[in-house]
Order: sequence, then structure tokens, then C-alpha cells
Amino acid sequence: MHATISAFGAYVPERRVTNDELAQSVDTSDEWIQSHTGIRERRIAAPDQAASDLGIAAGRAALERRGIGPETVDMVIVASSTTDYPNFPSTASIIQDRLGCVNAGAFDISAGCTGFAYGLELARSLVEAGSAATVLLIAAETLTKITNWDDRNSCVLFGDGAGAAVFEAGEENGSGTRVLHSWLKSKGSGDAALIRHVGGSRTPFDPAVHTAADMQIYMDGRAVYLFAVDAVVRTIQALCDKEQIEPRELDWIVPHQANIRIIEAAAKRLKLPMDLFFTNLDRYANTSAASIPLAIKEMIDQDLLKTGQRVLTVGFGAGLSYGGNLLRW
Ligand code: ACO
Repeated sequence: MHATISAFGAYVPERRVTNDELAQSVDTSDEWIQSHTGIRERRIAAPDQAASDLGIAAGRAALERRGIGPETVDMVIVASSTTDYPNFPSTASIIQDRLGCVNAGAFDISAGCTGFAYGLELARSLVEAGSAATVLLIAAETLTKITNWDDRNSCVLFGDGAGAAVFEAGEENGSGTRVLHSWLKSKGSGDAALIRHVGGSRTPFDPAVHTAADMQIYMDGRAVYLFAVDAVVRTIQALCDKEQIEPRELDWIVPHQANIRIIEAAAKRLKLPMDLFFTNLDRYANTSAASIPLAIKEMIDQDLLKTGQRVLTVGFGAGLSYGGNLLRW
């Protein structure tokens, strides 16, 4: 039995914030942000919107697209670095209830911006093992809620959004989008390069000592950049090796939408044309685990994905985690 991905869905908050608008409150400029990252604008969740609210909208869109009811879902998996609550209850449980997935189990996965790539392999495995007939995988992120807006090195990079995919059991040789291979890795020695220092069991929040900034994103941009370029190159190469093809034989590469310069550097190293890489980071910035399904949903809407194409996803982020999937469309 093969697991097929039968539908994608996505959601972004309504509020659009351009670089110029950001520059009114942050010591930066549209010119700096565009030239160093490729980002022009991002979406920012409303004060009353949590990750689950974005995830519910994306999950509902995916189920509607597939034309099945929420009661058919056996498992809800949510990839998020910005869960509604710290660690519990899981955001997946909240989404399971609010979406009406009355017959489903639910759990969160924490793999930073690589969460959707991990989730694709997990959902595939559950379906192909016969443990679940229908899995709803959601990546839901509200990074702007944990952003340090006084840190211009990082705050200009992030945006909010959610994406979702429905997995179902398919025929051995049937049509439908499939995960052919996954390659999922971790470089935990780089944990300090992208971290929220306070609020976990290592350093619980102490109001006498800590400030809000201690619980927000800390990023060593240079270290993450160097790691990311290497991670993208190695993931593409490894997945192509598994399929016994050259990277140039791929139809599309859908990278984590962090920074156009990371993607350009990886493309240059692999001697690949930039038009093999789909990007929409100019409009959404870095939406962490949600960036890959948001990109895929846009590709579907633009009719870019055709039956039989090989589509490679590649993610990297906190952990440091990295890896990707080779999909057959
Ligand atoms: N506006 C204006 N100036 C800025 C800004 C800003 N927003 N941010 C930094 N600068 C300044 C710095 O202060 C520095 O000034 P100085 O030379 O006077 O000290 C100057 O710009 C250059 O700084 P660099 O760090 O050399 O800038 P760089 O070209 O390396 O770009 C960046 C920085 C964009 C953060 C880059 O390192 C990067 O993309 N890193 C990876 C970040 C990333 O992708 N993180 C997320 C991945 S994981 C996840 O998705 C959560």
C-alpha cells in the first residue's frame, strides 16, 4: 500500500506589513531587507490569532479541497515552533477538537522550520504501516509572536502562516502525489545558533531575573546562514542519490523560504538554475515550518505541478534540524 497526498490547503493572516511599514518602528530600510533577504512584505497574525487558528483554516481548506469530512481523519499532526501554549496542551489536540476531527488522535512535532519535512515522512509512515487511513498534517506558525522586535538582525525575517496536507491510503501503482524518499537529519551541536533561552526546563522563567526578550527568538544569523547553505546542498544531493538522478533532473525544488541569498548560494554550489527553485518569500517572509506547504499550495494554484513530476522539498532550522523529501506528483 502507498500513501498518497490527496490535497493541500493553506492560510495566511490578512494583515500585510511591508518593509517600509516595518521601518517606521525598526531601525532598518526596505533597501536593506530586500538586498539582504529578498523579503518585501510579510503577513502578521491578529492579536487574537494563535497558531491553531491559522492551522484550523489551512486544515479545513485541505479537507474541503479533498471533499472529505473531518470525522474521517484518524490522526492530526501539527508541526509548529509557536504552539498555542508552551508544550501542553498540544496545538494538534486543539485543532482536532475545533475542526471536528472527532475520531482522531493528535500530537505535535517539534523540528523547527524542518517540521513539515519531518511531518511528511511521519504521515507517510503511519499510513503505509496501516496505523492510520487518513492523516491530516498541518504546519502552523506565528513566529511574529515570539519575535524580538528590538532585534533588527532577526525581526525583519519572519512572518505568519499555515499549510496542510491530507494523506490517504492509495493503490500500489495508483496515481496521486507520493513521498518517494525522505532524508531527515539533525546537527544538535548547533543548538545555540537559533534558540529561545528561557522558559523551558533548562532555565525556567524567573520574573526577578528575566525579561521578555529572553523568551523570544535569539539567532546567530551568520552561523545559521552557513549551516543552511550546506544543509540545502547536502539534502538535495542525498535525495537525488536515493533516486539515482542528478539534481538537474528534478522538476522543482521547494526550499524553506528563509532568505533568497541562502537559496542562491545553494543553487550556485550545485550549478542549478534559480528557476528550478520555487520561491514566494518575497511576499510571506520566513513562516518556519509553514513555508514549504504555503509554497506548494501556491504552485498548485498557479498550475505549476504536473502529474509525474519530481518535486523536492528541503528544510532547515532550529535544532539545528534539516532534511527534505522527494515527492512524485
Ligand atoms: N536593517 C539594517 N541593517 C541591518 C539589519 C536590518 N534589518 N540587520 C542587520 N543589519 C546590519 C548589521 O548591524 C550589520 O551592520 P554592521 O556592519 O554595522 O555591524 C550589517 O547589517 C551586516 O550584517 P551581517 O550580519 O553581515 O548581514 P548579512 O548579510 O549576513 O545578513 C542575515 C544577515 C540576513 C540575518 C543573514 O545572516 C541570514 O540570512 N542568516 C540566516 C538567517 C535565517 O535564515 N534564519 C532563519 C533560519 S531558521 C528559521 O527559519 C527559524
